[in-house]
Amino acid sequence: MVAQRTFVMIKPDGVKRHLIGEIISRLEKKGLNIVSMKMLKMSREMAERLYEEHKGKSFYEELVSYITSGQVVCMVIEGDEAVSVLRKMIGSTDPKDAMPGTIRGDFALSKSENVIHASDSPEKALKEISIFFSEELQINA
Ligand code: CMP
Repeated sequence: MVAQRTFVMIKPDGVKRHLIGEIISRLEKKGLNIVSMKMLKMSREMAERLYEEHKGKSFYEELVSYITSGQVVCMVIEGDEAVSVLRKMIGSTDPKDAMPGTIRGDFALSKSENVIHASDSPEKALKEISIFFSEELQINA
């Protein structure tokens, strides 16, 4: 087993709807470890770094405005193949396509307010962890 780290964030709609406990419970029951966790309200600068690849897209301003609108819960999660395991657990970006049993499949309907974010590659995990956590947490496969 090669322990891998990924970045996971419960978005403002997930926090407002009191889904923090439910989501953390699912991650822990799966056998993943929470290496670090913090609750914060993102600045515009942090949001621009997190969503750099979406700059210029039609939904970009809406995305940045929404993600900075309330508290988020950021986590560094570790486990065997954590990046792909988390992507499967959160489900498709559009919750209408997400399978029942996934977090988005069970708790969301809106593409912009889709409860949770998880890094889509080990490289992105490194970058995203660095936005919110100190360097020593960035160890990755
Ligand atoms: P996330 O996985 O956090 O990464 C980028 C986010 O952009 C994505 O979740 C969605 O919430 C959002 N997003 C992607 N496509 C659209 C879209 N067409 N309209 C609105 N939001 C979108």
